Amino acid sequence: MNSQDFEFVSQLLRKRAGIVLTGDKMYLLESRLAPLARKEGLPSIDDLIHVVRARRDERLINQLVDVMTTNETFFFRDKTPFEHLKEAIFPVLAQARRGSRIRIWCAASSTGQEPYSIAMILDQNPALTGGVPVEIIATDISDRCLERARQGLFTQFEVQRGLPVQMLMHYFTQQDDHWRISERLRQMVSFRKLNLMDPAYNLGRFDVVFCRNVLIYFDVPTKTEVLDRIAGSMNPGGFMLMGAAESIAGMTQSFDVTQDRRGLYKLASRAAKVA
Ligand SMILES: C[S@@+](CC[C@H](N)C(=O)[O-])C[C@H]1O[C@@H](n2cnc3c(N)ncnc32)[C@H](O)[C@@H]1O
Repeated sequence: MNSQDFEFVSQLLRKRAGIVLTGDKMYLLESRLAPLARKEGLPSIDDLIHVVRARRDERLINQLVDVMTTNETFFFRDKTPFEHLKEAIFPVLAQARRGSRIRIWCAASSTGQEPYSIAMILDQNPALTGGVPVEIIATDISDRCLERARQGLFTQFEVQRGLPVQMLMHYFTQQDDHWRISERLRQMVSFRKLNLMDPAYNLGRFDVVFCRNVLIYFDVPTKTEVLDRIAGSMNPGGFMLMGAAESIAGMTQSFDVTQDRRGLYKLASRAAKVA
């Protein structure tokens, strides 16, 4: 791939998905685009890029962006966010949202392990929310991931990552060489396509947002914009969770850090919008 084509794809990814591709990612680009070129019946990556440039075909651009997303995820990833949910978030929201409902948003849910982990916690601990109904909305930019997440079908490798064996036995049934999540858990999560680069999210207000391991692909101004937009989609008193290696430092005033709870942020009262 020549440097103009690399530049073209980098610009496209940044504009469409916020994803920043540095110059050392040529190998990554080539390894992800080669299967797409084959799938499209094109002889090479160069031809694929030529077709994208010439036709500006939205379906193809969408697929190009999709294959360039990194979808690494696993059940109960990092453990602590799920402890925060049980120990610090649900006890507060059970009181604050009494008579209403608790709305949780997984803002980059990949193949579904994160929202399904939350669903398992809720199913196992019904007393946690004091009878307040909980809604889980999970979104991602990748159609490929959303389709897999909706199916709730996981490989042996995927169920061996982070999922306690008792939960595997309780919530999944084996289907050939895959494991299918129970219908009951599948019904607890609703999956939708959403690009965090969109100027407005229009999903209503949330009490808890999981925004984990996605901002790492964006540049600082984009991180700031996305975090502020997420803050604008939250109820006063809401909580936001980030990945183990992530932080809001220097990026936004919309959230306050919490003492002794790594990765857990509270919506700042100055950022809370009154409905
Ligand atoms: C590394 S996964 C993180 C999954 C999960 N949150 C976790 O921490 O295990 C990052 C996800 O972000 C999604 N993503 C990347 N850019 C996005 C965007 N602009 N809008 C929405 N999702 C995006 C990718 O498709 C991918 O599934």
